[in-house]
Amino acid sequence: MKTLVVFYSRSGTTKRVAQEVAKVLNADVDEVVDKKPRNGILGFLIAGYDATKGKTTEIEFQKDPSEYDLVVIGTPVWNGRVTPAIRTYLLQNREKIKNAAFFSTCAGRPGKCLEQMEEILGKKPVLSKVLVRKRLEEGVKELVERLKALSGPIP
Ligand SMILES: Cc1cc2nc3c(=O)[nH]c(=O)nc-3n(C[C@H](O)[C@H](O)[C@H](O)COP(=O)(O)O)c2cc1C
Repeated sequence: MKTLVVFYSRSGTTKRVAQEVAKVLNADVDEVVDKKPRNGILGFLIAGYDATKGKTTEIEFQKDPSEYDLVVIGTPVWNGRVTPAIRTYLLQNREKIKNAAFFSTCAGRPGKCLEQMEEILGKKPVLSKVLVRKRLEEGVKELVERLKALSGPIP
């Protein structure tokens, strides 16, 4: 099964998880870059505002998801929501994604992020998982196990 791991990460946590997952699954990785500056206090505040308002943003990414059997998509949780970068990615690629698996990373309040991702994609992901930063290693292990169990035919 050909797998792509797509992620957006502002401060590196989601990136770490994505890289680890891709390594174990022998998958390709694609980073979604948000062209809007998200650093500093102002960047932080605007990030939360944009997520709350359900805003899209200008993004860059490299790989074509239609070439993969499974696309694993990871995002940080912002104000209980999906990030504008991953919202935009899903909107731009929903026709091209055959099977999706979602994960979010957060400080402990996952909100409606994964539900929003499902809504935007317009179909059920094969799995959804919240990873809490304090228990990241445990979360990654479980995510990888569940993804590995899917490596047979996807229902
Ligand atoms: C603007 C903003 C809003 C956030 N809102 C939440 C939240 O609602 N719930 C939560 O648990 N963590 C929240 N966080 C924390 C991040 O989700 C968490 O640190 C995540 O793992 C960061 O991922 P990254 O390092 O890949 O950017 C927020 C972080 C930012 C920058």
